[in-house]
Amino acid sequence: RPSAQTSASHKRPLVVAHRGASAYAPENTFAAIDKAADMGFRWVENDVQRTKDGELVIMHDDTLKRTTDVEERYPDRAPWKVADFTAKEIATLDAGSWFGPEYAGQRVPTLKQYMNRVSRNHQSLVFEFKKPELYPGIEAQGLAVLRKTGWLDRHHVKNKLVIQSFSADSVKTVHKLRPDIKTGFLGTPAVADLPEYAKFSDQINSTHTSISGEYVAAIHALKGPHRKRLEIFTWTVNNAAGAQRVAGFGVDGIITNTPDVVRKAVSGR
Ligand code: G3P
Ligand code: CA
Repeated sequence: RPSAQTSASHKRPLVVAHRGASAYAPENTFAAIDKAADMGFRWVENDVQRTKDGELVIMHDDTLKRTTDVEERYPDRAPWKVADFTAKEIATLDAGSWFGPEYAGQRVPTLKQYMNRVSRNHQSLVFEFKKPELYPGIEAQGLAVLRKTGWLDRHHVKNKLVIQSFSADSVKTVHKLRPDIKTGFLGTPAVADLPEYAKFSDQINSTHTSISGEYVAAIHALKGPHRKRLEIFTWTVNNAAGAQRVAGFGVDGIITNTPDVVRKAVSGR
């Protein structure tokens, strides 16, 4: 049976649906996480930002232009930053038509709505604070929403949640506020710097183009803040050859827009 594993010591990587199953449904919408759930994927990834009036919403870009009809609806409000629109305004945008007419009417979820949907779907989450430098205090605010939606109890923290960011400061803040939460730093620090990151980050989550078997081994040689082996989830791998390559390095997770393709490549099913 096909297997990407090059060493018996490599566990199959966890497959994480990037922004939901975003090759098949509009990213960061209910449709995208529902699609991942329908395809049998327990783990999804998202991006969290803040509106003008302080609501946390699920959006990758720091403008609403690419993934909603904001330009059409508000032609005079370029560059359509998330931070320049109220939650009420954003709630009426169409976040699905750009992807396909069958997704018309998909909305930009608030973080609260999104967490409830992930719960409903019995899914787990790699949660990303996107551009946290634009949103002072977003870490404490995000954690408060997670607490209110039941995501900071022992079971969720232990089994179902990773919080990551490209901002080391943001990851440090999360680790300081809630040391029990598993964290990830997005980037590829020099090997010599990895021990510093391992003080506050359980994962080093690097783009697949920047890693090698040696780099993965250097990560695995260290322990994270919870005294467990430091991990690596790599992104964004959207084809079988790429998935087999990084699985061969022994990565712990693969973040992908095409989770079905990756699953087949690494496990043959
Ligand atoms: O989860 C990793 C990945 O999402 C980081 O890049 O730009 O897609 O948020 P980006
Ligand atoms: Ca992301």
